[in-house]
Amino acid sequence: MEINFSSLDPKQVYKLMTSTIVPRPIAWISTVSRDGIYNLAPFSYFAGISSNPPLVVVSIGRKPDGQKKDTWQNIEETGEFVINTVVEELVEQMNITAYPYEREVDEFKEAGLTPLPSTAVKPPRVGESPINLECKVHRILEIGKMGIIFGEILNSHIRDDILNEKGYVDTKKLKLVGRLGGADYCLITEENTFELRRPDKR
Ligand SMILES: Cc1cc2nc3c(=O)[nH]c(=O)nc-3n(C[C@H](O)[C@H](O)[C@H](O)COP(=O)(O)O)c2cc1C
Repeated sequence: MEINFSSLDPKQVYKLMTSTIVPRPIAWISTVSRDGIYNLAPFSYFAGISSNPPLVVVSIGRKPDGQKKDTWQNIEETGEFVINTVVEELVEQMNITAYPYEREVDEFKEAGLTPLPSTAVKPPRVGESPINLECKVHRILEIGKMGIIFGEILNSHIRDDILNEKGYVDTKKLKLVGRLGGADYCLITEENTFELRRPDKR
């Protein structure tokens, strides 16, 4: 079967892309509004794109009424956000924060999560999450209806027991969650992880 993307409507494109480009890490983004209201929501059009400088990119859409999603508005207002990682124990809370709450609603409270102070930025981090990356905006591109947000990582919080002596986060100690198409997710576990050394590094 051959499918030309120009013949598809955006919903069909969304289905094909989000079930093909998998698994996607989830940036569980905490922000704060100009008025000091905390916000938390998951985004899986998310990637790390450079280590020097340390950059991530997240693509955020609009609400049905055309307004920018709260996370986008807050990032635009304050220039800061925190990426919190999602592990198996946190999937229900993550899902609660995907609900389209009004801007005045604090999703930390709705999901029963602990906002801990960040060091380099104003938005709080999710205390229950094993890794938090504090970011400042590098630039925001508006492409079509989307906000493509480039962030620079300024500071991180990593649970002590998961950083190994080589400087890597030991993913086998975490059940990190990835997003697949539709309502499907996957888990990174010891059983489905394997090692493959590059030919020049054997
Ligand atoms: C796992 C997961 C991944 C998501 N990824 C995205 C995404 O990449 N971009 C986006 O605009 N919305 C994404 N959403 C939907 C938002 O989380 C949802 O619209 C949320 O209500 C936005 O909240 P906000 O208005 O507080 O920013 C995702 C939802 C889930 C459950």
